[in-house]
Amino acid sequence: MRKQIAAANWKMNLTLQQANELLDEITNKNISLSPDQQVVFGVPFPYLLLASEKVKSNAGYFIAAQNCYNQASGAYTGEVSAVMLSSCEIGFVIIGHSERREYFWEDNEMLAQKVDICLSNGLKPIFCCGEPLEIREAETQNAYVETQIKESLFHLESSALHNFVVAYEPIWAIGTGKTASAEQAQEMHAHIRSVFAQKYGNDIAESISILYGGSVKANNANEIFGKKDVDGGLVGGASLKADEFAEIIKGLK
Ligand code: 13P
Repeated sequence: MRKQIAAANWKMNLTLQQANELLDEITNKNISLSPDQQVVFGVPFPYLLLASEKVKSNAGYFIAAQNCYNQASGAYTGEVSAVMLSSCEIGFVIIGHSERREYFWEDNEMLAQKVDICLSNGLKPIFCCGEPLEIREAETQNAYVETQIKESLFHLESSALHNFVVAYEPIWAIGTGKTASAEQAQEMHAHIRSVFAQKYGNDIAESISILYGGSVKANNANEIFGKKDVDGGLVGGASLKADEFAEIIKGLK
């Protein structure tokens, strides 16, 4: 069975002390995970090492960076490379979040480079895609998301996509309290899986974990994660509260 994943995206929130407390609170709950379940904390760069240290004794718990640069090293003041993250033993990197696409002009081509550099450094990308409201209203979301995937991922060999992680995050559902319905999520996740199946075959498509993101809360996680092609969530606001995120973890299949 492909991995079912509860991933937290803390975004640019929490002080070091708050981060410490939140990780302690969640890990101390000792939520038992099946071998097919994983918990990932996407934390700000300064907290990566601390977070790794905190979760290392919890099987199935991992740390993600929220971004990395598309070059290996050099004169890029302020950027963080995949090589650096790999040397810190970070497992995952969130790539192409809609906030990075919107505020930092990351396009599909740049994201393809970021995916490559993560993979070549042993880091698992959590590749984000998703449409803005006007695309959903025009009912062209399937083609929109398909283009994001094709332009950033279809250059990869099939072996690179085995057990890959994609997060579908409709922009109109992020931070708005307006969740896609479980049916809308399932419909898009099935579409995403079929896009991979057409290019790479069913085995690869079936191995990819497709997470839903956008106003996932304790009270809707179970229903959304229960859908056949939804393999967990990428959670923003609700991941900043220990009790709430713990319930979301328990909502995994
Ligand atoms: P919210 O859960 O706050 O809507 O954020 C979703 C998100 O952007 C996760 O990456």
